[in-house]
Amino acid sequence: MKSKIIIVNNVTQKFSLGAKKVTQVLKGISLSASTQEFLSIVGPSGSGKSTLLNCMSGLTQPTSGQVLINGVNPYHLRPSRLAQMRRQEIGFIFQSYNLIPALPVFENIVLPLRLAGKKIKRRVVRQLLDQMNFAADLNSFVTNLSGGEKQKVAIARVLLTQAKIIFADEPTGAVDSVSKEIIFQLLRKLADDGACVVMVTHDIDLATRTDRTITLKDGIIQQDLKKPTAQQLLTAMEMR
Ligand SMILES: Nc1ncnc2c1ncn2[C@@H]1O[C@H](COP(=O)(O)OP(=O)(O)OP(=O)(O)O)[C@@H](O)[C@H]1O
Ligand SMILES: [Mg+2]
Repeated sequence: MKSKIIIVNNVTQKFSLGAKKVTQVLKGISLSASTQEFLSIVGPSGSGKSTLLNCMSGLTQPTSGQVLINGVNPYHLRPSRLAQMRRQEIGFIFQSYNLIPALPVFENIVLPLRLAGKKIKRRVVRQLLDQMNFAADLNSFVTNLSGGEKQKVAIARVLLTQAKIIFADEPTGAVDSVSKEIIFQLLRKLADDGACVVMVTHDIDLATRTDRTITLKDGIIQQDLKKPTAQQLLTAMEMR
């Protein structure tokens, strides 16, 4: 059965830009996301998508408003408990990959599992990467990889944690169209199998294939659409 696993109530986010200047990036966002749901967030560059994802996932405390993950406000937790929640319940695929340059591919992928005291076989990691069309060696250092390869490493790292809540910030931004399809299908399957997947994307076609799309503009939700058509999304984003 589906249940609301993420609830966001009237969240605002302000950043100070020097002594007197403040910018408000999120202006009262309310939404929820459920288990077994693939939710996409679309909107122009700078509209606040990454900022929203960071607030929703326990990474950045909003200026005001409330976030509940599985009924718990992550910003009320002690730092150690929050770190544990983020490690055990949440997978985050960063727009900037967030890999560790000094470590090879394999070590980057298994790091969260190591931190959780779990072991993982190289064969399992290799299989997943093969499935993702990733040809590079597990021993390569991530600094030597292309953008798309780094993105796949970041995605494999999250897929193997088996987290029930996945945040993906433009997970297909750097990859070719075949890889894009593979990555989308992997995320689609996670949601179909019960996870809550929240994906920021610039790709209208991919958004139409998620269960629900939220369009964001200037830090405000414009629309919350179930199974939108491309036309609806383009209109909502005023891209025509
Ligand atoms: N820590 C910060 N300090 C000051 N301004 C910030 C900070 N983080 C984000 N911003 C500003 O907030 C706005 C929204 O940024 P955000 O990264 O959320 O946009 P986005 O919708 O994810 O854009 P993109 O599609 O380009 O990734 C931008 O104008 C950005 O400069
Ligand atoms: Mg962004």
